[in-house]
Amino acid sequence: MESFVYTGHAARVIFGAGTLSRLRDEVERLGATRVLLLGGRGERAAEVLGPLVVARFSGVAMHTPVEVTERALELVPAGGVDCLVSVGGGSATGLGKALAGRTGLPLVAVPTTYAGSEMTPIVGETADGKKTTRSDPALAPKTVIYDVELTLGLPVGLSVTSGLNAMAHAVEALYSPDANPATDNFALESITRLARALPVLAQRPDDPDARTDALLGAWLAGICLGTVRMGLHHKLCHLLGGSYGLPHSETHAVLLPHVMAASSPTAMRRIAGALGATDAPTAVFDLATRLGAPGSLVELGLGEADLPKIAGDDVGVLAILEEAWRGDRPAALDDRPDLTALTEQVVASFAGASNPRTAELLGDLVRRLHGFVVDNDLTEAEWLGAIDFLTRTGQLCSPTRQEFVLLSDTLGISSAVDLLTNSRSPDTTPSAVLGPFYVEGPPAVPSGANLAEGLPGVPLRADVRITDLDGRPIPDAVVDVWQSNQDGFYDVQLPELEGPVLRARLRSGADGTLWFRSILPSEYPIPDDGPVGQMLRATGRHPYRAPHLHFMISAPGHRKLITQLFVAGGRYLDSDAVFGVKDELIVEFPPGPDGSRTVEFTFRLGAGNG
Ligand code: BEZ
Ligand code: FE
Repeated sequence: MESFVYTGHAARVIFGAGTLSRLRDEVERLGATRVLLLGGRGERAAEVLGPLVVARFSGVAMHTPVEVTERALELVPAGGVDCLVSVGGGSATGLGKALAGRTGLPLVAVPTTYAGSEMTPIVGETADGKKTTRSDPALAPKTVIYDVELTLGLPVGLSVTSGLNAMAHAVEALYSPDANPATDNFALESITRLARALPVLAQRPDDPDARTDALLGAWLAGICLGTVRMGLHHKLCHLLGGSYGLPHSETHAVLLPHVMAASSPTAMRRIAGALGATDAPTAVFDLATRLGAPGSLVELGLGEADLPKIAGDDVGVLAILEEAWRGDRPAALDDRPDLTALTEQVVASFAGASNPRTAELLGDLVRRLHGFVVDNDLTEAEWLGAIDFLTRTGQLCSPTRQEFVLLSDTLGISSAVDLLTNSRSPDTTPSAVLGPFYVEGPPAVPSGANLAEGLPGVPLRADVRITDLDGRPIPDAVVDVWQSNQDGFYDVQLPELEGPVLRARLRSGADGTLWFRSILPSEYPIPDDGPVGQMLRATGRHPYRAPHLHFMISAPGHRKLITQLFVAGGRYLDSDAVFGVKDELIVEFPPGPDGSRTVEFTFRLGAGNG
């Protein structure tokens, strides 16, 4: 049983390109008119706010030093300030929160990096070289404006480290003691978006789609950061920043893959899925390396002698720090090679397709097949077995035997495609697979004809009505009917038979009705003497279809309906070999006093052509 406590923080979020233009409205929405504008990059914000700006403070500093906060604080009473607006990265937001905590004033945060602290009620302040963190709902911004355009100018290096900083929030959310399905989803979506965006930004820093992905990823990661407790990674980054002066986002970028390698394997598998990789820690390490992020703690200026001091007596932490200090690639938790580059190369090879749909379908097929291969650690023998199976399936095909269609039927693919194509409206009679036994141009017979003349079996009378969706009769509809004999065989399976048997073409009368005589259909096995039968036996499946009558109904101005009626109480209704049974198509065939059966059914056709 899952159980958790979830505390969301109700900041109003304005996301999009150009949303800074709404800053003045948002300040006024809070009932404020006198703004202290914080941050060194506030020119555009100042323009938007116009006369609402009564004071500005641009001297923000990393790790929110208390003396800086106190200097900014002096501007509040002096200007009669009633609202704080911060524009910038984590340091500007941090100062805004420190001031909000001291004054109780509302804060509107306009983040320009991916730090995520705007979504949290937490501030980490430094006094006398020591960083202390406190959490208080009063610190959280009331409104956050994410303007994608403001991030366009973010230098590549900072985009990368800040993006990895955001990813760290999402990563730690997944193995947090407070993890819950909501933050899990935010975290995974955040990781996917950041991992997709960062390589693009490294090449094209102004790409608007990648900037949107990155900022959305940062927002989602920020929600994680503000909602669930962070873990070892954040503890170490905090210590390295607060006590050893290491730069914030760079430290996150360096440390993250090494902490991941020592963290919950279950969380790592989920992250690998979100990254489209086999092993999450090495994938993040390779991503950071590829993006040119700093690679080691030594590069960031940490002395080797400091490592044991930071680790205390925790040898596990010491091992993580040593690996990060040297910048070694973490050992993969999973030794399956990463197929991402290969997959992308194959997908890219379809780019020249003359029909874009071809490229789309083939690309997705290859991604899923590669995913299937890697997720199942497919062996060479298994793949050769599959190829042999498909080869034999093809070799069995002839003008009268379609083993591939049978394979599609028995894997439920025919039914899936049929559902997608023909069952989009709940008001029409559901469709069902055509099957291999339909023959074009069946013999035309008048209503009331007997399709089973001279054949043994339980006599059946079928009364059929064809209507449109409003219940109006459709006259002159062409109704093809076909079925198996008492022993479960179609005429085309019995070479000794001459001419069509148990199949006919009828037409509905002026009132949309028709009737015919026949025999009760019985259950029958689909052809199981080939590879499909082998598959059924290998998986403990039987080859039987539930007893049914086939119908193909066409009328001008209406969608053609291919379907089947199943005999209620018949065998195999719940285990039909080709997954063709639908509840609405199971109908009573009640017995009369002489033991013969009847069936009545109204087919509803949708409007359309063909
Ligand atoms: C049939 O109902 O005729 C059928 C459908 C799919 C596979 C085999 C037979
Ligand atoms: Fe059939």
